[in-house]
Amino acid sequence: MQLTVNGTNHSLDDLEPDMPLLWALRDVLGITGPKYGCGIGQCGACTVHIDGVATRSCQVVVGDVWGPVTTIEGLGTPDAPHPVQAAWIAHQVAQCGYCQSGQIMQAASLLSETPDPTDTEIDDALSGNLCRCGTYPRIREAVKTAARSLKGA
Ligand code: FES
Ligand code: FES
Repeated sequence: MQLTVNGTNHSLDDLEPDMPLLWALRDVLGITGPKYGCGIGQCGACTVHIDGVATRSCQVVVGDVWGPVTTIEGLGTPDAPHPVQAAWIAHQVAQCGYCQSGQIMQAASLLSETPDPTDTEIDDALSGNLCRCGTYPRIREAVKTAARSLKGA
């Protein structure tokens, strides 16, 4: 089985095809940005991109992965953060941080499809990403900042 993650191709021949992608990322490949929150598709902490689309990695088995996977580790780098990551830093969004890689991956996916989202579109897109710390107001402002940055404003 082949899995491309953050631009690196992995041969995972010993893997059971029904293993959830989240397990493969964290336990097999040691990529721990995607978090285990609920394991049942209800919290968004495990969100990654598959072929650029935000996807709950706890809900996709490795045998069904249909394209390259990007995790928070592959979205940007410390020297060249993705505009969403840069906006998160500028707004100091994170509190405990546990949900934030999922929030950022969901936000990046939103902005790739909707470059200038309204408050309602932001809230709708991120409604499945839960934050126990209640950072939602900062998340919304950071998404708007990232949108302006991506537009070059
Ligand atoms: S761990 Fe995947 S949605 Fe909660
Ligand atoms: S920052 Fe703590 S759960 Fe979101």
